[in-house]
Amino acid sequence: MKRLLTCLFFIPALFMKAQEVSIIPQPTQLTMGKGNFSIQSNTKIVLGAEGLEKSAAFLQGYVQKMYGLHLKIEHKGIATGNIVLRLKKINHTVAGAYHMEVNNDYVSIEADQATGVFYGVQTLLQLLPVTTANELVIPHLSIIDKPRFAYRGMHLDVGRHFFPVDYIKKYIDFIAMHKMNTFHWHLTEDQGWRIEIKKYPKLTEVGAYRNGTTIGRYPGTGNTNTTYGGYYTQEQIKEVVKYAADRYVDIIPEIELPGHSSAAIAAYPELSCFPEEATKHPSKTAWNGTTEGKQVQQTWGVFEDVFCPSEYTFNFLENVFNEVIELFPSKYIHIGGDECPKESWKRSAFCQQLIKDKNLKDEHGLQSYFIQRMEKYLNGKGKQIIGWDEILEGGLAPNALVMSWRGEKGGIEAAKQKHQVIMTPGEWVYFDHAQNKPEDSVTIGGFTDLQKVYGYEPVPKSLSETDAQYVLGAQANLWTEYITNTSKVEYMLFPRMSALSEVLWSSKENRHWPNFKERMQQQYKRYDQWGANYNKPAK
Ligand code: ACM
Repeated sequence: MKRLLTCLFFIPALFMKAQEVSIIPQPTQLTMGKGNFSIQSNTKIVLGAEGLEKSAAFLQGYVQKMYGLHLKIEHKGIATGNIVLRLKKINHTVAGAYHMEVNNDYVSIEADQATGVFYGVQTLLQLLPVTTANELVIPHLSIIDKPRFAYRGMHLDVGRHFFPVDYIKKYIDFIAMHKMNTFHWHLTEDQGWRIEIKKYPKLTEVGAYRNGTTIGRYPGTGNTNTTYGGYYTQEQIKEVVKYAADRYVDIIPEIELPGHSSAAIAAYPELSCFPEEATKHPSKTAWNGTTEGKQVQQTWGVFEDVFCPSEYTFNFLENVFNEVIELFPSKYIHIGGDECPKESWKRSAFCQQLIKDKNLKDEHGLQSYFIQRMEKYLNGKGKQIIGWDEILEGGLAPNALVMSWRGEKGGIEAAKQKHQVIMTPGEWVYFDHAQNKPEDSVTIGGFTDLQKVYGYEPVPKSLSETDAQYVLGAQANLWTEYITNTSKVEYMLFPRMSALSEVLWSSKENRHWPNFKERMQQQYKRYDQWGANYNKPAK
């Protein structure tokens, strides 16, 4: 009996069956071969060049975590029997392109740039069994692959609800495993300021905590009556930035201005045009604690108390950005710019005088002045600003990149003005929307199911071929008013993120809904393997 078991254990790879190949996002070109290659504990990851260590480490870490198999990493070892990662001229100018070959002798992943090798590794991980195994049998095949869009992003709002550093790292892993390359970290909101700024300690001492939170869907059934909050220290942010860079993920920090700034104003009331006025909140919502003075908001919506365009505010913001710039190497800084009510500026004698002095048309002109002044400062520091599409109103800042969220209109207009654009229209890529009818937990509304996301086309038809070049890519946004825990983050994320990854990576010709749905069956098992929650009715 023992001998029989031993024999069964050592069935050669030749006779073992590799699972169906099911890669998401769909590669450009996939040719299946005939046999199998087996990754075992003596298989090595061989590096053919410097600079591929991150890819090797990711592969090694994943295989260790999922299968308990430790693959050694070797520099310049032999190819036979091993997984070889190489930099090689494959004549793809697109960053992220790679070739992969699995044959009798070896697995090879080659690319012009290290990023391409990393994405080849992500493909290799998808060939591995979706259940535990101690021999990883993968089929002979050949893949030529490259991304369609340069910008492939995911956003996360940590203002409405806060998620710890370990979870942010997990979120970055999800991004990387979907061959996406940007994490838009929404760090400041009316309901919480989440980034330590050493020059302004009250931003986190005061601004990172609210005295309570609306229960249920706005206006809610009450208030939790408990303090809620949290923030990331600068040390933690550095750690996350490095973690992301090791996965070829760029982090774009967002510091909201001039609106969505209640938490900053609660910390430093002089940032408001009316520092003496108490924070207003909608009368139909329940409030906990004092209503005197400036307060961090406890409910959801758009609030009238916004940054005053004063020298005090500009000095404050410049100092904040000085620290933000030191932490984030990204060439982009997101300055928000959305949903800034103009009521405060209308009734402020200071703002009205400023409009006259600067020869501005109205309060929209003042918003444009605000954004352009910040842009000038940040450009001077070598950074390019990104703003939500409201920054088009009153005149676009000269070098700004526009994130089109209120449909595609803002993106189309910006591209026509020869500005770079990232498409993030609510109807298709707002992952806070419902995905079931009826939805089984509270959401903000809307309806964006898997098929809707899959059918999204980031380049609007109305753009000429020349203007279409300004569309760098797209991004899904995850606003967290109704997402209080990480399990719900994943429920809202999956499977829609997998659909978006294919929209952004795969060629239009390679996108096919019935085929994608079939490939998703394996992906659901992969989510299980990752221990990730997902929307199961979509199965
Ligand atoms: C947004 O959803 N307010 C950008």
